[in-house]
Amino acid sequence: MASSLARLKILVAITGASGSLYAQRLLDNLDPRQHEIHVVLSHYAQQVIAEELPGGLRLPDGVKPHGLKSMNAPFASGSNPPDAMVVIPCTMGTMGRIAHGYSEDVLQRAADVVLKERKKLILVPRETPLNLVHIKNMELLLLAGATLIPANPSFYSGAKTIVGLVDTVVARVLDHIGLAHPQAKRWLEPEKQND
Ligand SMILES: Cc1cc2nc3c(=O)[nH]c(=O)nc-3n(C[C@H](O)[C@H](O)[C@H](O)COP(=O)(O)O)c2cc1C
Repeated sequence: MASSLARLKILVAITGASGSLYAQRLLDNLDPRQHEIHVVLSHYAQQVIAEELPGGLRLPDGVKPHGLKSMNAPFASGSNPPDAMVVIPCTMGTMGRIAHGYSEDVLQRAADVVLKERKKLILVPRETPLNLVHIKNMELLLLAGATLIPANPSFYSGAKTIVGLVDTVVARVLDHIGLAHPQAKRWLEPEKQND
């Protein structure tokens, strides 16, 4: 379980890109007893979760789910932003809407709030191949202060399972939230013991 001394407020936003398992593994690695964890799903996230996660999304005890269409969520206001928001996986559609400030639902509004309040917005985009619209939206988001961590697993980790590969991306997300995972395998670091 990833840890840090400070209690962080973290919003995990899940959209309808392939890779629902990335969101599941991020949630599995955040401790709601130590941090305040909120979750919001786009409408299409539900459809992709139904395709990709047998048994559906498991929300760990203590995680607070929010409806997409209600602005009655703390992170809808700049007066109460999360310390970090992760959109995982992030569709090209949501990425474009965030890049252009649509704020039409609480997920998009939260991303707008996080950018304007200079908190951490981490996007885990998933699409292939990319077109120029995607690239331009990514450029805009980088200029606005977001961090892009594409859903590209690393293979030097020696991961033997799909979850192991997914976790190579989740470990980088945790790094950028400021919650390094103790078991994350790092390049040229001695093997860690699993205990
Ligand atoms: C099974 C499935 C997989 C999809 N994978 C992707 C994907 O990897 N990337 C992407 O940008 N859109 C993907 N889509 C399309 C999005 O779900 C669609 O554009 C949707 O409007 C996005 O809405 P959202 O951004 O509100 O979640 C997928 C759709 C389905 C049904």
